[in-house]
Amino acid sequence: IGKMADVETIIEGVQSVLSPKDLVGEHVLITAGPTREPIDPVRFISNRSSGKMGYELARVARRRGAAVTLISGPTSLQVPFGVSVVRVETAAEMYGAVMDHVGLSSIAIMAAAVADFCPAEQKMLKAEKEDISMLRLDRTPDILAGIGALERKPFVVGFAAETGARLDRAERKMIAKGADMIVFNDVLQDGAGFETDTNVVTIISRGKDGVHQKEFLPLMSKEAVASAIFDSIVSHKE
Ligand code: CTP
Repeated sequence: IGKMADVETIIEGVQSVLSPKDLVGEHVLITAGPTREPIDPVRFISNRSSGKMGYELARVARRRGAAVTLISGPTSLQVPFGVSVVRVETAAEMYGAVMDHVGLSSIAIMAAAVADFCPAEQKMLKAEKEDISMLRLDRTPDILAGIGALERKPFVVGFAAETGARLDRAERKMIAKGADMIVFNDVLQDGAGFETDTNVVTIISRGKDGVHQKEFLPLMSKEAVASAIFDSIVSHKE
């Protein structure tokens, strides 16, 4: 009592007051970061991901008035003010946490870089090097496709990190996974990599007439990309 709030919290409070409140009443579920698939207690398989894009989405959604649940893989980022977080390690845990929360959500954004494979068996003790020269892998559950296939589902947004200008691949992913929108980025482009604070994205959405709409955005901060994604969601969601 009597202690001044820290500067970050004050800045976030000011930003929040100055933001449009067009997400009041929405429950936004966001996945972020990588997942880790253990080989043994000290080794794992993972994907490159800082989690920054997902955390910016959570911050912006909360500022604009939404209730936000962030399902986060391991990252070193600070959880944005007012966002409730569920921390997970593996793709299976992330799948379970998403399914636990999706029923309450009106918008679901899958920004996590989920590992596509996990070791078929996990050793309880640290394995000898010779024993892991060959790994048998299983596929992990596809979380985005899982919610895209639900009968009662929120507005579903996926990400497609591709190498090269593979918009066609991203569009196919949107359809195949039952998403309403997919955010494409070419990770080889300058400023669109993994650890950067910027991104270059194209937002692809299913128009009401079935024709896909594309918004090509320039190099922007991840915070500005997050705002643009919510602008697009607000205009597409009935
Ligand atoms: N995704 C997911 N669960 C997985 C794999 C991916 O929810 N097991 C989601 C990601 O969060 C992202 C989208 O699916 O929103 C696309 O992920 P990506 O890795 O590009 O697609 P894949 O389906 O894995 O296709 P590929 O690796 O063949 O490009």
